[in-house]
Amino acid sequence: MKKQIRIAVLGLGWMGQAHSRSARRIPTHFPDRSYDPRLVVCADPVAQRRQQAVEDFGFERAVEDWREAVAADDVDAVWVTAPNALHLPMIEAATAAGKAVFSEKPIGGKPEHAVEALRLARASGVATGVGYCYLWSPLVLHARHLIASGALGEITHYRGRFLSMYGSDPLGLLTWRFFLDQAGYGVTSDILSHSVALAQFLVGPVSEVVGMANTTIPRRPLPTGAASHYGVGSPEDPTGEVENEDFASMLCRFAGGATGTFEASRTVVGPESQNAFEVYGTKGSLSWNHERINELELYLVTDSPNSGYTTVYGGERFPYHGAFVPGQANSIGFEDLIAIQDHAFLEALATGADFSPGFAEAVDVVSVQQALIDSWASRGWQPVTDLKETTR
Ligand SMILES: NC(=O)c1ccc[n+]([C@@H]2O[C@H](COP(=O)([O-])OP(=O)(O)OC[C@H]3O[C@@H](n4cnc5c(N)ncnc54)[C@H](O)[C@@H]3O)[C@@H](O)[C@H]2O)c1
Repeated sequence: MKKQIRIAVLGLGWMGQAHSRSARRIPTHFPDRSYDPRLVVCADPVAQRRQQAVEDFGFERAVEDWREAVAADDVDAVWVTAPNALHLPMIEAATAAGKAVFSEKPIGGKPEHAVEALRLARASGVATGVGYCYLWSPLVLHARHLIASGALGEITHYRGRFLSMYGSDPLGLLTWRFFLDQAGYGVTSDILSHSVALAQFLVGPVSEVVGMANTTIPRRPLPTGAASHYGVGSPEDPTGEVENEDFASMLCRFAGGATGTFEASRTVVGPESQNAFEVYGTKGSLSWNHERINELELYLVTDSPNSGYTTVYGGERFPYHGAFVPGQANSIGFEDLIAIQDHAFLEALATGADFSPGFAEAVDVVSVQQALIDSWASRGWQPVTDLKETTR
């Protein structure tokens, strides 16, 4: 008998839709699951999205006020998929109501928001998850296994980058991501957070950092109505000021002794969604790039001293891949990572197992972010303080 998990989704934009689609198709991909997801209520202030929630996604109802959705008696778990500034109030209400909560990253827009979310979750004892979805890529899981098994030897250097073009057009719309009060920090919260989460997942904690930030496009056209950050305005539109950083870079040292370099940008021209890493060890190296999600580049001194890098294609030989397509080198895509992640979270809810990444791991990410922000002010190296300790 499968346990029914009744879901509220707060915000039906890009991520709200991705998670809702996951809930719909998870039963077809994971027949051996212990639960059945039920899309009970969607909250969004935009009427067209509420209509879409019911008519296209099959929610039982849609409401304008997210507080009503969180408080509903027929909701067990809440998905927080609204803009960053709403994460913490939504989490506060969900934890107070004793509901399990899955929040999109980065949990608020500033480090203190994620720290407070963890404190609330710990006080209430609810289960938590956070949307660092790239950690669930089958080839990223394989990379982690290779690193942990010692196949690369001792890890000496890590290179992480998330270079996106979503803001590279100067006419790209001034959506919530560009405002301090709605997004918090810019690329540091939005996409460098993914790179840091991947790095800590693969090679462990970061112990000290120094970095810089820059805003390259200071004004953008104002949107009219609901708009995506991929939307573009016209030269005649009124403009407003970009309030947070377009670019951030960071040098770091890992607790295990390796060095690291990181870059994140939303305004470069060329890389369109290059969330990528390279891991170098004394016996080999590997690299992965979300733009080529089904390929892992691997160099092992012992196996192929003269062959250079070998391309390993994704396939059912790696975790979760076979839930989507059988065989090897048949591709999966971005939204499949969301489905894997949501399945793992729901399965943990149904069985009472621990789930990671949750709010604690989100605080590991913002602990690095806080040190980076401090280094902008001090213009020098900053130790990473484990902010989880402040929530006990
Ligand atoms: N894991 C990932 O790879 C990934 C990718 C994109 C976005 N995100 C995260 O997901 C979150 C949402 O980003 P997005 O790109 O989906 O944004 P979006 O702008 O596409 O969608 C936001 C939605 O929230 C709704 N909303 C606004 N105010 C609301 C309110 N008061 N109550 C309920 N809903 C409200 C909007 O109407 C919209 O439908 C962000 O925190 C972002 O960092 C994560």
